[in-house]
Amino acid sequence: MKILTIHGPNLNLTGQREPEVYGSKSLEMINLDIARKGETLGLTTVCRQSNHEGEIIDWLQNAEKETFSGIILNPAAFTHTSIAIRDAIAAIELPVIEVHLSNISAREEFRQRSLTAAVCRGSISGFGTASYLVALETFKMLLS
Ligand code: DQA
Repeated sequence: MKILTIHGPNLNLTGQREPEVYGSKSLEMINLDIARKGETLGLTTVCRQSNHEGEIIDWLQNAEKETFSGIILNPAAFTHTSIAIRDAIAAIELPVIEVHLSNISAREEFRQRSLTAAVCRGSISGFGTASYLVALETFKMLLS
């Protein structure tokens, strides 16, 4: 089983960007943690990052053709703004789990609303890198 992780805009700067909010691990380290967790669960993992809304939509639309079984998506700021990403998630059959490093419910008002969460299978928010690892474990349970 192959799981695609998509990191949205600015997440390439994780580790340097507001470490008190997003933690001190670089995206490379987070991706390594995801790969290791995947190995222990017997899941193949692929991680991508983009700062571009259209590219994220293309990845969502093509994921089934690329033989992925599920998608872990951190839409980052697009969570709060992108009807286009919401529509893409709603349009595909594959289950999507939304994840956030920070607890968006405990942050500024504009971050408390997710346009994408309602069309995802579920969301995990506030556990730093562990948000992604819990999402992988959830996929292992859902898909086996
Ligand atoms: C984030 C939360 C978003 O509000 C923010 O725009 C991000 C990261 C998180 O992982 O906590 O870029 O998605």
